[in-house]
Amino acid sequence: MSGPMRELVRYASLAASGHNTQPWRFAITEDAIEIHPDLARSLPAVDQDNRELWISLGCALENLLMAARAAGYAPQVTYPDTAALIQVRLTADTPQGSPLFEAIPTRQNTRSEYDGLPVKGADLDQVQAVPLEPGIALRLVTNPIEMNTVLEYVSHGNLRQFADRAFMAELISWLRFNQTEALASRDGLYSACAGRPQVPRWLGRLVVAWTKPQRQADADAKKVRSSPGAVVVTSELEGKTAWVRVGQVYERMALTMTSLNIRSAFLNQPIEVPDIRGQFQTAIGLGHALPQLLLRFGYAEPMPRSLRRPVAEVLLST
Ligand SMILES: Cc1cc2nc3c(=O)[nH]c(=O)nc-3n(C[C@H](O)[C@H](O)[C@H](O)COP(=O)(O)O)c2cc1C
Repeated sequence: MSGPMRELVRYASLAASGHNTQPWRFAITEDAIEIHPDLARSLPAVDQDNRELWISLGCALENLLMAARAAGYAPQVTYPDTAALIQVRLTADTPQGSPLFEAIPTRQNTRSEYDGLPVKGADLDQVQAVPLEPGIALRLVTNPIEMNTVLEYVSHGNLRQFADRAFMAELISWLRFNQTEALASRDGLYSACAGRPQVPRWLGRLVVAWTKPQRQADADAKKVRSSPGAVVVTSELEGKTAWVRVGQVYERMALTMTSLNIRSAFLNQPIEVPDIRGQFQTAIGLGHALPQLLLRFGYAEPMPRSLRRPVAEVLLST
């Protein structure tokens, strides 16, 4: 199996994924890389339809495309609506590096409070100008009244999710409470990345299980208030191809932000709770556009990076 192709897979797996499950497997063939869903890593409580799983594959696809172009390939994508995989055919071309490719290793969900300062107008224009995919749009939110709507709906989502036993059990199963656990699995949500102290698993489980929904809502409300803006990624349609394209546009936008020193973090709670999703869509004035992802952005110091499984663990033998 060729070294350069494995390196492309490594870049792909640095992408975002829900709960950092890394729900992907890659097959390297003579002239293509295939991205397959790893359904053993799905999140049935928070992501019943595998919507976020396919968005995560879209994030990995976008990294793969940037890395392929930088390595001197012209990639051609076949989307997954007919077959349940994404195929990227690679033909030799002139190498095309880019600031977004350079930003792949440093992009992260920065879950701390931000410094509240507005993002420079010219930089916001660049974020707004990120190239889109068919049917996908970005809705930037910076005015305080709309930011308040975002805050209100994130709180609704938190109150529902933290009172939902299945959601909590699934979340706890993906939390890595200390370095030993994080290094053993190299997946999941490692406490250090969210600025939480390292504790033994038995203690971490108790603390999270006993977290009052209102306490979680208050903590996230503070984070929203510290952020000068938010973005909703929307799609016209549902379905695997639309979700993959949502993931691509998110990753492109997050890399653009990273290259401009703007941090971001997801707050998908109002989109993950089905009956809140429609209300949020109306409240934020999206019309028929379906909200798929919600994130806040602003300026902050970087946090410790989340871990990834080694390439050998995500390769399918062909
Ligand atoms: C579809 C999707 C949904 C996500 N939802 C949330 C969320 O609601 N809250 C959150 O804090 N992070 C969320 N994340 C971020 C992941 O937890 C994060 O990407 C993962 O832990 C890897 O960390 P990194 O993005 O810093 O590399 C989501 C990511 C994806 C791709």
